[in-house]
Amino acid sequence: MDLKGRNFLTLKDFTPEEIIYLVDLAAEYKDKKKKGILHDNLRGKNIVLIFEKTSTRTRCSFEVAAHDLGMGTTYLDLSGSQIGKKESIADTARVLGKMYEGIEYRGYEQAIVEELAKYAGVPVWNGLTNEYHPTQMLADMLTIREHFGHLKDIRLTYMGDARYNMGNSLMIVCAKLGMHFTACTTKEYFPEEALVAQCREYAAQSGATITLTEDVDAGTKEADVIYTDVWVSMGEPEEVWEERITKLSPYKVTKSVMDNAGENAVFLHCLPAFHDLKTKIGKEQGEKYGFTELEVTDEVFGSAQSLVFEEAENRMHTIKAVIAATLGAV
Ligand code: CP
Ligand code: NVA
Repeated sequence: MDLKGRNFLTLKDFTPEEIIYLVDLAAEYKDKKKKGILHDNLRGKNIVLIFEKTSTRTRCSFEVAAHDLGMGTTYLDLSGSQIGKKESIADTARVLGKMYEGIEYRGYEQAIVEELAKYAGVPVWNGLTNEYHPTQMLADMLTIREHFGHLKDIRLTYMGDARYNMGNSLMIVCAKLGMHFTACTTKEYFPEEALVAQCREYAAQSGATITLTEDVDAGTKEADVIYTDVWVSMGEPEEVWEERITKLSPYKVTKSVMDNAGENAVFLHCLPAFHDLKTKIGKEQGEKYGFTELEVTDEVFGSAQSLVFEEAENRMHTIKAVIAATLGAV
């Protein structure tokens, strides 16, 4: 398997074998890290991390992964760079491509990360766009495989805004890997038809299924993985909160949802999560609409079924695999 020089923009561009290869490689790096075996064979190389939206996990994962591989990192955001205000994405790409071996980008439209990749001349990694969050998918697949021992035929139900980066990306990865994906949400929030059709084509090859349902009982019954995400994503306007809370409240992940799922079901969330009112936004919205928790109850979030912190750790191991494989270090 040779992924040297490849961009990592969406899992639509990767075969099932390539995706599994990256998950396997991440598991190897995780094992090495736990055993204290150094793997810094990218010494002398550097990467740059562009964040037009905020981040804890993705930024830290790229930084720790790069440092473990022996590399240097530079963090750029809008306030401390020329990006957007004085310099186009194409010119930024051409400059950074001359100084760095790879570029991570988190921001708005997928078209921006594609533009960056077109002009950079070095691998570009998507650290989240409105449409996709591909590095999160590798972490989720590693976490599911660690727990169940396999990925094929796993039944994963996503509850929430399934038209956005997380719903789209989970549907793609499940379709590619022969898993059973259900979007369980109000029909206005189903993924776009064109993407559903494309995923059904992947599914025809892999044995996966794609189900879209508004019915919580049917959509979560016997699921192996119940997955949710924030109801309002980064960069969306404040005004959408009211509609999201109204429409998505029936799709909150509660104990009764988990009880309806399979006997060994687990709960995943890409994080950050509004499972209590201990955050500024959670408190504001919770108090405004009379909730003490939003997309998931505190009970489920803190339960033994919740693997969210293992999942968060796996961001780092999987991002390391993406960096190493695309830079040809393996
Ligand atoms: N899951 C995730 O991407 O987290 P951050 O926004 O903290 O990077
Ligand atoms: N849908 C969320 C995912 C965060 C990791 C967002 O875009 O804000």
